[in-house]
Amino acid sequence: MTARTCLTIVLAAGEGTRMRASRPKVLHTIAGKSLIGHVLAAVGEIGGAVAVVVGPAQGVVVRAADIALPAVEIFVQEERRGTAHAVLAARPALARGPSDVLVVFADTPLITARTLARLREALASGADIAVLGFRPADASGYGRLIVDPTGALVAIREEKDASPDERRIALCNAGLMALSGRTALAILDRIGDDNAKREFYLTDAVAIAAGMGLATRALETEEDEVRGVNTQAQLAEAEAALQRRLRAAAHEAGVVMFAPDTVHLCADTKFGRDVTVEPYVVFGPGVTIEDGAVIRSFSHLEGASVGPGARVGPFARLRPGARLDADVHIGNFVEIKEARFAAGAKANHLAYIGDASVGAAANIGAGTITCNYDGHDKHRTEIGDGAFIGSNSALVAPVKIGERAYIGSGSVITRDVPADALALGRARQSVKEGWAARLRALLGTGRKPP
Ligand code: UD1
Ligand code: CA
Repeated sequence: MTARTCLTIVLAAGEGTRMRASRPKVLHTIAGKSLIGHVLAAVGEIGGAVAVVVGPAQGVVVRAADIALPAVEIFVQEERRGTAHAVLAARPALARGPSDVLVVFADTPLITARTLARLREALASGADIAVLGFRPADASGYGRLIVDPTGALVAIREEKDASPDERRIALCNAGLMALSGRTALAILDRIGDDNAKREFYLTDAVAIAAGMGLATRALETEEDEVRGVNTQAQLAEAEAALQRRLRAAAHEAGVVMFAPDTVHLCADTKFGRDVTVEPYVVFGPGVTIEDGAVIRSFSHLEGASVGPGARVGPFARLRPGARLDADVHIGNFVEIKEARFAAGAKANHLAYIGDASVGAAANIGAGTITCNYDGHDKHRTEIGDGAFIGSNSALVAPVKIGERAYIGSGSVITRDVPADALALGRARQSVKEGWAARLRALLGTGRKPP
């Protein structure tokens, strides 16, 4: 078989008014990634040329698309006049005559490359138009697939234009469509706007193709793969569906998660072997957990890497730039930002370590704080291998603590400490023998204590 070429047109020009948000709809995120980012990841897997249609003045969407999939071609739909009108904004790309044209919506983030490939297979096996159907629990808002008594797909009816009988049809339009490149433009150019919304509906392509005697085909898929996001509630439903998918993949990869419903993952969360994630853990974007690490309950991680055998939490917060090497222990109420912990280092309780490096096997006592910010600039703290930072110490950056040095508890350290030294930076304790007893004897006499 000679290779068929493919053009995928991603529609992202809609206004997303139903989101009631100032941010463009397709830049809302699920599992830490924008809706359009998810779609372009699936589209990128199938290869071929990719065109993204955006609205006017949507530079932010263009940038997001470029980052998600370099080499996309951008087209601007100057006026939002419907999905078919949006597809035709990419006319120059269509005119290049690809064998297959795929139209996908940037607001349908859970679509997989596998299903896009199925739509292309339908074209390869003779269909001129293939659409994707599904049976949602709640069909409201979706177009309905109209199938004639012989089982042939003859039309798609938008809900606003559907008769009460048609509204009872359970099989809905997922929005995605595959068109043979040979006939795509001829079909698209015949679509008009004679409907309830006075828009050029892509869905009309089916009735037009059927009328031209072309072969139409409907494929079916699961609701979770084609949930469209038009509202905040649907965004949350898509998030829930994606979380189920990501948790299943983590389980499949051997991650021990005994309360998976309470664990929030990101699309890019990476796990090694024999990792345990306890209940109620949130993974933000950019987290890698290596072999044998344990993430205990109520921890929040973002932009962090956790080395092999490390233990994090309960109640730990790893912010962007937290890098934990092998066997590091980070305990409760410890916050780490932009800091590297070398192998075996520990911060077991109540600490803030930011803009720092912590040497191998160093021990950070409870209540230690790196004072990294002077109100204007951030400064670094360097702690050598095997150093021991006594509890409740403030390390005022920029400052270096040498290897194996000791910092006395409660110190405020403002100058560098050499290796193997003891540094004390606190008021000397004084003791007054018998003072408390003398005070008690005077209480109630009106006389002042000594
Ligand atoms: C669309 C389908 C509907 C289907 C549903 C599935 C049409 C006419 N209707 O309805 O049959 O059941 O998706 O989720 O196709 N867009 C543009 N320019 C426009 C209008 C829309 O780029 O002028 C883009 C939007 O950004 C969005 C996509 O096209 O990514 C779909 O538009 P939307 O308005 O959300 O269509 P639905 O009403 O959901
Ligand atoms: Ca939609």
